[in-house]
Amino acid sequence: MNAGVITVSYIGAGALFIMALGGLSHQETARRGNFYGMLGMALALFVTVIGLVTDNQFFLIAGIVGGGVIGWILAQKVEMTQMPELVAILHSLVGLAAVCVGYANALDHGNSLSGVEKTIHDVETYVGILIGALTFSGSVAAYLKLSGKISGKTLQLPGRHLFNLGLLIAAIWLCGVYIEHSAIGGGIGILLAMTLIALIFGIHMVVAIGGADMPVVVSMLNSYSGWAAAAMGFMLGNDLLIVVGALVGSSGAILSYIMCKAMNRKFINVIMGGFGTPKISTAGAGPAGDVGDVKSIEAQETADLLLNAKEVMILPGYGMAVAQAQHVVFEITKKLQDKGVNVRFGIHPVAGRMPGHMNVLLAEAKVPYDIVYEMDEVNDDFPSVDVSIVIGANDIVNPAAQEVPDSPIAGMPVLKPWLGKTTIVLKRGMSTGYAGVDNPLFYKDNTRMLFGDAKDSVDAVLRSLNSDS
Ligand code: TAP
Repeated sequence: MNAGVITVSYIGAGALFIMALGGLSHQETARRGNFYGMLGMALALFVTVIGLVTDNQFFLIAGIVGGGVIGWILAQKVEMTQMPELVAILHSLVGLAAVCVGYANALDHGNSLSGVEKTIHDVETYVGILIGALTFSGSVAAYLKLSGKISGKTLQLPGRHLFNLGLLIAAIWLCGVYIEHSAIGGGIGILLAMTLIALIFGIHMVVAIGGADMPVVVSMLNSYSGWAAAAMGFMLGNDLLIVVGALVGSSGAILSYIMCKAMNRKFINVIMGGFGTPKISTAGAGPAGDVGDVKSIEAQETADLLLNAKEVMILPGYGMAVAQAQHVVFEITKKLQDKGVNVRFGIHPVAGRMPGHMNVLLAEAKVPYDIVYEMDEVNDDFPSVDVSIVIGANDIVNPAAQEVPDSPIAGMPVLKPWLGKTTIVLKRGMSTGYAGVDNPLFYKDNTRMLFGDAKDSVDAVLRSLNSDS
């Protein structure tokens, strides 16, 4: 294929990726954004396979078809609640690819280069493998944590910052040693040693972060996978891969920053696994001060309260995703709107298990965007809310974040339904949320617990609403 055609196609694909990011920044245009992204990727793959690769096209096409089929089957099978861990494991594959490209590069191409060019090539290879290996092991650790295969709790080893510093110094020192050895045709052993260091660093970094800080890990690994792709682009001399990697890397970094701001955390503290933050006592995991009794409520009473309300706020969380209750929640919303009740949804930035989790669920249920609000848009309105319904949420409505200074979630901004007239919490029992912290909201005077699977509960409320009208 003509080099000019390849360049123009790559520019076109790059533009489509930028339009995809633009589209994904608003719910109304997200679907279109996804479409642009898919189109850009199809164009990039087609031009690369047909235009750039001259040998072994058969293996490449076989790989694409095999990978495509596996991806298709996975996408059909995966539950919405498993999306975060799927994303984490996909990031690990980007890291693994960067490691493989790096080793292929070290074993094959560099030998014909000399002088500064050879040094640049060696540094590219070294950095590519380093970023790839830590993205790989960090993403696998995040996958294991998010899927509950290992504990989600923070593992903070004594002297961990010194240990991290030691790994960093060793990795920098080994880079110099590698360049020297590579000049005389060796260095693979050194690359292996550095890979081991990077793998340990990736795991150590992720297991040290836990509880409510996990969302930042997910977006940070997203960013790392972008930088790993950009590193591959440098190693392979592929401009599009550099551009796309930089887009993913920087948008992931911006998302991590937004997440940190939403949770009132400092980015550097989070990625250093609590560096510079006061030691959290486990005492903060219990309910604050004197707690009252838990008061339960039935579906019929809930329906009556809703029908008598003027302002209703729905606060969904991870449990709504588990129960797949969003469609019935929208049925209830429509029913109440027909009766003249003003119903709004309040969305916490880290509700669920992935960025935008609740927005995706509500969009799937066709809830109109204009009644879905971000936390900051509704948090001052609670004093005028008659009934708040918390559906399978826990950490994001936990007053301990504001009231208990040594709580593991202290300082995290939360939705404040307790300032309204009545809060009804739909959950199965009294278990804690992701951060493992008890929730004083459940014991407040104006809180009622509607126990049961959220889908069964909203079904029962809808039945009561229908029979009341
Ligand atoms: P959580 O704090 O995890 O609470 C979810 C609650 O839902 C649980 O207490 C559980 O209580 C209930 N539940 C589970 N299945 C249910 C079902 N079928 N029916 C009814 N209730 C059910 O969720 P949240 O309030 O959405 O907070 C999110 C948490 O996850 C935060 O700590 C956040 O930092 C963390 N996190 C977020 C992300 C992103 S990016 N959003 C990523 C990783 C971690 P029962 O078992 O008693 O029913």
